[in-house]
Amino acid sequence: MKLKDKVAIITGSASGIGEATAIRFAADGAKVVVCDVNQAGVDRVVADLVATGAVAAGFVVDVTNKESIVAMVDAVKAQFGRIDILVNNAGITQDAQLYKMTDDQFDRVIDINLKGVYNCTKAVVDTMIEQNSGVILNASSVVGVYGNFGQTNYAATKFGVIGFVKTWAKELGKKGIRANAVCPGFVATPMVKAMPEKVLQGMEEKVPMKRLAQPSEIASVYAFLASDDASYINGAAIEVTGGLTL
Ligand code: NAI
Repeated sequence: MKLKDKVAIITGSASGIGEATAIRFAADGAKVVVCDVNQAGVDRVVADLVATGAVAAGFVVDVTNKESIVAMVDAVKAQFGRIDILVNNAGITQDAQLYKMTDDQFDRVIDINLKGVYNCTKAVVDTMIEQNSGVILNASSVVGVYGNFGQTNYAATKFGVIGFVKTWAKELGKKGIRANAVCPGFVATPMVKAMPEKVLQGMEEKVPMKRLAQPSEIASVYAFLASDDASYINGAAIEVTGGLTL
């Protein structure tokens, strides 16, 4: 129970890695706030968590919409009294090579994956400063360290959220707040499983472990970084790739 009674907001937690992180945090004793644009998904994940005896609350939040974020943060503070952990997990892809990429594709990915992280963190940081404690975790990617074919927009956001945590580590460390990023390789979530079978096989082949990660294997890294076991890890970008980049 390494997150016992910690209040954790997880964006994009109606699916994939975010859902697995909600399940893991709840198992570790956290009070989990499930946030997503997908109302049905939020309801399903909250019901599943509550059925296990966990404390959970759900909110329909669009990370590009400040009003929905502020309403959620106010409600969480009213219900739970504090905010200990923010996992900025919500993210999308809109892939195209640079010469084919539309401005809409570029802007949409920047708005959700980069500005959404800024919006959510801005909305909780005053509370964490008042508490003199907090943990901020950003979903980066191996693409945020090495770049990727067809992902000008996505790669920029995933590099960007590493820039955020390195800056926030410097600004907020003395206020008892740690900020870190997680950089997964290929994870078996709806985002990746939507790819053609041949592409998936090619991905598995590139990994020394010859398989994709399970979402729970990324969730366990978030759980570690959120816990006091990681009390001196600050401003780091942790690669969780099964050795993909070796
Ligand atoms: P997913 O597609 O399964 O889940 C993403 C969730 O974010 C969905 O529930 C979706 O409704 C939600 N979302 C989308 N736009 C939103 C918005 N504007 N506001 C609030 N919620 C929104 O994706 P997955 O694979 O679980 O990815 C989670 C994070 O991990 C993303 O940031 C992704 O870039 C990152 N990641 C994923 C990898 C993978 O292989 N699946 C690898 C590296 C990083």
